[in-house]
Amino acid sequence: MGNKDASSNFPTQIKIKLELWDKEWIPTPEEIDSLKELYKRLTGKEDVPVDFNQRFFTTIRGERTTLVMARDMEKDIVVGMGMIHSWTTLSSGVRGFIDDVVVLPEYRGRSIGENIVKTLLTITERDNISRVRLTSNPHNIQRRTAIRLYKKLGFKKINTNLFEYVPKK
Ligand SMILES: CC(C)(COP(=O)(O)OP(=O)(O)OC[C@H]1O[C@@H](n2cnc3c(N)ncnc32)[C@H](O)[C@@H]1OP(=O)(O)O)[C@@H](O)C(=O)NCCC(=O)NCCS
Repeated sequence: MGNKDASSNFPTQIKIKLELWDKEWIPTPEEIDSLKELYKRLTGKEDVPVDFNQRFFTTIRGERTTLVMARDMEKDIVVGMGMIHSWTTLSSGVRGFIDDVVVLPEYRGRSIGENIVKTLLTITERDNISRVRLTSNPHNIQRRTAIRLYKKLGFKKINTNLFEYVPKK
């Protein structure tokens, strides 16, 4: 596992390390289980999709996707994660999108989420990203902490002209 940009500035007794996903890394079954647990905490769902592994690898192996994971060094488990995706458009240059930010409930309130997002934002410099967006539903009570965190880190709520198309199955 790569830890090219490890940061461990946490006001806590628990030793947490932030790791940047190394594309060569193959997670152990235990790590996959930790990621599944994080997925459940993020979505509020009790089960993971049957194609979870495939979906996960397709996502994080993307050329312009960076995954940051927080690891409890003593227990050697992944306790938090977040991703940033970037793409280039002719009209807007390089854009970034942060997604899938989550910390296990028992590890919350220790600045892990804040450090994950801050690490994701360091990618803006590396990838020359001029703007980063994310979505978080202000009507969902579960997102209150996240929204407070994003605002603290400088995100502003914007009125978008976003449209969505859902293909019929
Ligand atoms: C959002 C989330 C990732 C934050 O993770 P975290 O590690 O707890 O974040 P931090 O410790 O950096 O804390 C962020 C803020 O929340 C507060 N906080 C976090 N957990 C708290 C708790 N249990 N009780 C009180 N405050 C809490 C912190 O004090 C901090 O606020 P402050 O800076 O004003 O003091 C986490 O709450 C989470 O996984 N939520 C569910 C998934 C989710 O909503 N993801 C975002 C999708 S858009």
